[in-house]
Amino acid sequence: MSNQTQREQWGSRIGLILAVAGNAVGLGNFLRFPVQAAQNGGGAFMIPYFVSFLLLGIPLMWMEWGIGRYGGKFKHGSAPGMFDVLWKNKIAKYIGALGLFQSTVILIYYTYIESWTLGYSFFSITKSYFGLENFTEMKSFLYAYQGREVNQYFSSIVTAYFFMIITFALNLWILYRGISKGIEKLAKIAMPALFLFAIIIAIRVITLGTPDPSVPENSVSNGFGFIWNPDFTKLGDPKIWLAAAGQIFFTLSLGMGTIQAYASYLKPKDDIVLSGLATSATNEFAEVVLGGSIAIPIAVAFFGIPTTMEMAKGGAFDLGFASMPLVFERIPLGEIFGFLWFLLLFFAGITSSVAMGQPIIAFLEDEFGMNRKKAVTALGVGIFISVQFVVFFLQYGYLNELDYWAGTFGLVVFALIESILFMWVFGAEKAWQEMNEGGDIKIPRFFFYIMKFITPALLSIIMIWWFIQDAIPTLMLKGIPASNHPYIWGARIFMIILLGILFWMVKTAWNKEKKLI
Ligand code: PHE
Repeated sequence: MSNQTQREQWGSRIGLILAVAGNAVGLGNFLRFPVQAAQNGGGAFMIPYFVSFLLLGIPLMWMEWGIGRYGGKFKHGSAPGMFDVLWKNKIAKYIGALGLFQSTVILIYYTYIESWTLGYSFFSITKSYFGLENFTEMKSFLYAYQGREVNQYFSSIVTAYFFMIITFALNLWILYRGISKGIEKLAKIAMPALFLFAIIIAIRVITLGTPDPSVPENSVSNGFGFIWNPDFTKLGDPKIWLAAAGQIFFTLSLGMGTIQAYASYLKPKDDIVLSGLATSATNEFAEVVLGGSIAIPIAVAFFGIPTTMEMAKGGAFDLGFASMPLVFERIPLGEIFGFLWFLLLFFAGITSSVAMGQPIIAFLEDEFGMNRKKAVTALGVGIFISVQFVVFFLQYGYLNELDYWAGTFGLVVFALIESILFMWVFGAEKAWQEMNEGGDIKIPRFFFYIMKFITPALLSIIMIWWFIQDAIPTLMLKGIPASNHPYIWGARIFMIILLGILFWMVKTAWNKEKKLI
């Protein structure tokens, strides 16, 4: 099992922080957040959002760094091995397989979406979509690109397929280069670039003023007002609390094993308190300040609040891939701004998708003794097969189904399990010591109680509530047209098979270990 060779390590502290920040800052910050905020009460959304950040986000971030560094001491970079050392019970490692499951499923569809951003940065600089006049046309362009319809813009899925292959190849290549030469190096280039692009675009947005003076209500300031004016009547609605908690999980990459995997490459006495805080803060800056200043304000300035609401209803993709291009073709040097916007999304995406690949790579390396080349090849083959369904069944809701179970509901379930394992089974005092060890600062003591009681309690409430409100109807296919049912079931069968394979792999790895001893 764990090979005798030294595990990899991060090259530098700043590199590590950028890498974990890169893991967290992703499409979620620039596409998902603005839509969530706009749909869930604007400024009022920020109350449950910050409460979730404090009571769930920050504590879980520290716990995940703690679990990861601890697992790394035993040469485990993925959840099965980590849970096995936290809890001496035969089933612990199987529960850990859930972590591998989620990161791998998300990797599959997330990387495909990421490839659209690469495609669109190319379409921006070549002005491919310039001249399309309205939202409907821009959406047709997007749908044809995605292979949902055939029209004059794209006659097949080939273009999307091409960018998909390039994106996956890049991801695999970075994973193959390894922790410090691949992931860390990427973060050192992509993160500063991404911030620079985002700041440039945000400044451009802020200085837009009122693009059409004859319609004074369509202005940037009204756009900011739309996001930030609180609608307190919504605060009593449990749905916005769930949406806020869900956004916190997704944006901070919690509840799926990627933060733990990164932390497993720390040295035993490396600080995690300050580093965990720094990455969370970086992510929130990118999300609330930058993510909040681009997509929605610009859409309001150009199209007004009612239309923006319509656009936001269509979800994160309509806003990012249809409304933004409409703006780019209307402003001077729009091709450059469009290029920067989509490249920014691509950089945000790729620093996250490599993180989703790392747990499974670590699993193959640490538990099966594979070398990196073999591990990356195995992942590449698995992903290549799995992504076909995502690409070809997109219009039937296949991707959404994966996103719901692995990327939304599953995060809460996994976070609940790990917080109980760490704070209750492993032991709160031991966990506390583990997290504080080597810390540049100490975690304020009240977080001890939050982590031990409040976080797991809140997670349980959220999980049960969500299950009743949302998961049961989703499971029963409520609101899904009958023609899509076979594809949704296909997605479910895919997930069950994947989970089965992972259980079997865990079993095989541990059997092998026993024989070696
Ligand atoms: N946090 C990333 C984002 O905001 C998404 C992500 C989820 C990354 C899970 C890694 C793991 O887009």
